[in-house]
Amino acid sequence: MRLSILAVLLVVFMTACKKETNEVETKISQKDNFWVVLNSEKAQKTEGEWTWEFQLDRPGDYNIQIFRKGKQDTALGEVSVESAGMTLKENPETIFVIGETGKEETISQFAKTIKLNEAGLQTLTLRSETPIDKVRITPQYSKNLGFGTDKYYDAWLKMHNAPEKQQALEWFKQAKFGMFIHWGLYSQAGGIWKGKRMEEAPAIGPKVSEWLMYKFEIPRNEYAELAKTFNPDKTFAQNIAKLAKDSGMKYVVITSKHHDGFALFDSKVSEFDMVDATPYKADVVKELYDACLAEGLAFGVYYSHGNDWYDGADGNFKNVKKVNDSLGILSHPNGKNLWDPSPNTHAEYIAQKALPQVRELLEALPELRLIWFDGDGYITEDQAFEFYKTVYNSNPKVLVNRRVGFDFGDYLDAGDNKIPSASEKMTKYFETCGTTNNSWAYKSYDDDWKSTKELLYYLVDIASKGGNFLLNIGPDGEGHVPEQSAQGLLEIGDWLKTNGEAIYGTTRWTTTREGNEDALLGGTEHRAKKGFSQTFSAHDFWFTAKENKVYAIAFVNPETTVVIKSLKLENGKVASVRLLGDSSEIPWKQSVDGLELDLTHAKVGTNGYVLEIIMKNKK
Ligand code: GLC
Repeated sequence: MRLSILAVLLVVFMTACKKETNEVETKISQKDNFWVVLNSEKAQKTEGEWTWEFQLDRPGDYNIQIFRKGKQDTALGEVSVESAGMTLKENPETIFVIGETGKEETISQFAKTIKLNEAGLQTLTLRSETPIDKVRITPQYSKNLGFGTDKYYDAWLKMHNAPEKQQALEWFKQAKFGMFIHWGLYSQAGGIWKGKRMEEAPAIGPKVSEWLMYKFEIPRNEYAELAKTFNPDKTFAQNIAKLAKDSGMKYVVITSKHHDGFALFDSKVSEFDMVDATPYKADVVKELYDACLAEGLAFGVYYSHGNDWYDGADGNFKNVKKVNDSLGILSHPNGKNLWDPSPNTHAEYIAQKALPQVRELLEALPELRLIWFDGDGYITEDQAFEFYKTVYNSNPKVLVNRRVGFDFGDYLDAGDNKIPSASEKMTKYFETCGTTNNSWAYKSYDDDWKSTKELLYYLVDIASKGGNFLLNIGPDGEGHVPEQSAQGLLEIGDWLKTNGEAIYGTTRWTTTREGNEDALLGGTEHRAKKGFSQTFSAHDFWFTAKENKVYAIAFVNPETTVVIKSLKLENGKVASVRLLGDSSEIPWKQSVDGLELDLTHAKVGTNGYVLEIIMKNKK
């Protein structure tokens, strides 16, 4: 009973709230669709504590905002919010005062977001010494580009489910391991501009070296000068394709145009490209495409559709901000060119450069396998859909990643250098992209190279969770790959030559791992700060599966016997056991406690070993 009253009140309230937001003409997105507003009057209240139940329509990352009536000069003080098993405790900062004179509202927002992973009925409890008026829960737009309105959902689903797409997705799931390449004009600078390093640059934002133009606020004309000296080695394409192949990678994705707006391919709609603006004068994307196909590798392009610091105006920032400010929503200037924006509008850029260039790529590269969109730049839901549709109409076999925006991707990514936990629910197949040091593009002074074991661990951990690993290289201005990163890749290639069966074409098994805890990779900056402290023991195993086979992957040689607990009798009868890369017999016995193996005489490598366990029945 209480619930239904609450639900009715909520609907009434949300309708009222919608009316309020609709008064602001917004062509940007229907942001209010997934907002939840909890009024203090409707809460279950005790001293300093408010509790609500509410309906959540869409899982995701949400911002928590606290509203106080009037224009408040004093800080809110410490507030805690609990929902979906997560607690935020902060002194939320005041970010906006909205509303006309006499009807102002002061909005404070938590710096951290809250993950609401499941749609449905939720509870939220707030504790605060200072009285509050309401809580507003809004999707985190800076990351997700908002949730959109679902108006394109059916049309999108039809394309996504088309047989060509699904076949492509099948290929993708089998491939498991790909090469990401960040390379462009910025590679010549290697993270240093006029004697200063990225870390000393004026603008806040990521320190990865492909953000050179942004961090040093380099005017467009000055930045364009870098094209005049971009004359890489002619053997770039062959070298890279060979490296990818020898590293056991199945696909290659290159930055055909990064946020700086420079196209590595031959574009008819822009002069700021490899053919028109550099002494190299040739289409290096096409060269790499040909070289990859010759090596039997699939080919994809990264394309920054939202951000284009050269031609994309201010990334639609001012328009978005105007609307957001009136609603009390923060707009993030990160990645938007506010120092020297091009004079056109962002919409003109989308129509006259971004969409046409995507069409050019699709036409020039008929065997293209995927387009890896990036850089939201506050594109609209209509535009995001247009990109998806443009790709589909030109070649339905081409996959599109999540960052095209508004959930229109064919697959998900877990975020830069982020590995999801085994229990995280994924709505689509996923890929994690990762770096070999702490930058995507070449950074001459970043020597924090990840060891082969660390990289291998990521590959295996991701595969055990049923995803792909897109591992990056950042060639220098000449197109040469830093020795240390090439070395790591090649060592993974060696490991895969023996153990590839445990990775390619596999899926998740019932258990993803046993032994030590799931150590998560928490993002590029996180890894840069924290380093890698994971230790491995002979009792740690990761699992993958294929037909009636289970693969147990270990990084440490046990020297004697070892027990794999997850393979106890209860979980299925073992028919046979084989050590990949070694034909000698492995003595084993299975019991209610696990599968015991004697590896005393087994030939295992420095990076561990893989057991192929054939089950009597398919599990
Ligand atoms: C981010 C960065 C970009 C990099 C990409 C890789 O979006 O802006 O520089 O290319 O992640 O995933």
